[in-house]
Amino acid sequence: MMIDRFVTWLADSPVSVTIGAHGWITPAVQTVHILAIAVIMAAILMTNLKALGAVGAEDTILGFSRRYAPWIGGALIVLLLSGATLIVGEPRRSLENPVFILKMGLLCVALLLTAAIHAPLRRDAGFWQAGPRLAVLRGMAVVSLGVWAGIVFAGRWIAYAVT
Ligand code: HEM
Repeated sequence: MMIDRFVTWLADSPVSVTIGAHGWITPAVQTVHILAIAVIMAAILMTNLKALGAVGAEDTILGFSRRYAPWIGGALIVLLLSGATLIVGEPRRSLENPVFILKMGLLCVALLLTAAIHAPLRRDAGFWQAGPRLAVLRGMAVVSLGVWAGIVFAGRWIAYAVT
């Protein structure tokens, strides 16, 4: 299969061999990954709790979005780079792992939901205040929290689903 050949090529690459030869690299990169998870989950939690009306009564949802969106974006870049390094270091462990595929699928859904909540605010600060939209926003916030929690669960499960 195509993926097998790619995984073998990647595992034999000088970068992958170097990562494997230095036992400290993977735990160091996993530490960076975990710290970025903490940042993105804190920002996602705050913006979704605001959407649910549970925090920040003194501020607007646009105010929260402006404050936390840069943290979400920055943490995502760190997660992408640290995640890619973990893949290069042990390609078989993730690229041939159905739980990793599940995690990436959930991440796509979570990013679409997050964009759907934040993007309209850039055009219209009161977009979510109008009538039934508030109920839609709150529904999306609940689903978004569930999906992000699912990504963390899948991320941890990867290690236990290695074949
Ligand atoms: C942006 C793209 C991402 C990529 C390419 C990626 C990739 C990876 C890889 C390859 C692992 C190592 C799995 C292992 O070998 O055990 C991992 C672990 C993990 N990832 Fe990600 N990840 C990404 C984003 C995220 C996000 C957004 C979250 C959660 C919000 C997340 C949560 C986790 C968790 C909880 C672990 C387990 C950490 C550990 O126990 O050491 N990842 N990720």
